Amino acid sequence: MLDGSLEGRVALVTGGTRGIGLATARALAEAGATVVLTGRDEAKAKEAAAAAGADSGLALDVTDAKAVSTLVRGVAKEHGKLDIVVANAGIMEDALLGMIREELVDTTLSTNVAGTLHTVQAAARAMMRKKTGAIVVLASIVGEHGSAGQTVYAASKAAVANIARSAAKELGRSGIRVNAVAPGVIDTDLTSGLTEDAKAENIGKTPLGRLGTPEDVANAIRFLVSDDASFITGQVLGIDGGLVL
Ligand SMILES: NC(=O)c1ccc[n+]([C@@H]2O[C@H](COP(=O)([O-])OP(=O)(O)OC[C@H]3O[C@@H](n4cnc5c(N)ncnc54)[C@H](OP(=O)(O)O)[C@@H]3O)[C@@H](O)[C@H]2O)c1
Repeated sequence: MLDGSLEGRVALVTGGTRGIGLATARALAEAGATVVLTGRDEAKAKEAAAAAGADSGLALDVTDAKAVSTLVRGVAKEHGKLDIVVANAGIMEDALLGMIREELVDTTLSTNVAGTLHTVQAAARAMMRKKTGAIVVLASIVGEHGSAGQTVYAASKAAVANIARSAAKELGRSGIRVNAVAPGVIDTDLTSGLTEDAKAENIGKTPLGRLGTPEDVANAIRFLVSDDASFITGQVLGIDGGLVL
């Protein structure tokens, strides 16, 4: 019987203060999980946790490998286990090839690639003892198909998809599933810089005729971390209304 219940599960969502992370924390909590969410600012993380019905909100910068490891270990210790980790924290800044600054490369790769890697590594360590767990990372259609003006971001998200595929191969025998979601254009702070014309153009190219919502992505993540997806690992699931078709 499939019911999507996450009753009794302990979940961690990075970058849970807004957008897709906040919607995911809410969706997992509504499905019965005990949820810990993080953001760089502790007060904002606590506020978001209260809004999402999460157990707690903690400060974490995912670029800091030691901090990620310590936080993940702490969550697993406090709750006796860690079943679900969603490595959602990420940034996006556009720049045409000729305008790419070294600082943009550093911040994008350290947040999106190294940050995801730190989180998956720490999650795997925490889950290994119980030989069970589900991890989801946030890729992007841009990482699969490229995008003019987004070379750095696209490269980072291609790396994220391959973190999922490689970790899935490595961790499957330990009972740990790792998947990625690849959202299209989702209406969050990250895409708030898009002009109305750019939004209309994207909607025009999307068979389902609208932008995505954070809940569209959160619902897919909730499925991927549930037992309903127990034979799914190493996949990159597009959530884009058909935009890339
Ligand atoms: N929106 C889209 O169209 C779209 C499409 C494809 C993929 N994605 C991916 O989906 C994920 C979430 O996107 P979103 O649209 O929800 O973005 P958002 O609204 O800008 O939220 C980003 C989240 O990441 C956190 N964050 C950023 N840098 C961090 C760091 N160094 N350490 C810890 N947390 C950090 C932010 O927390 P604080 O600022 O509070 O610290 C915030 O909670 C990202 O990985 C993004 O690349 C989004």
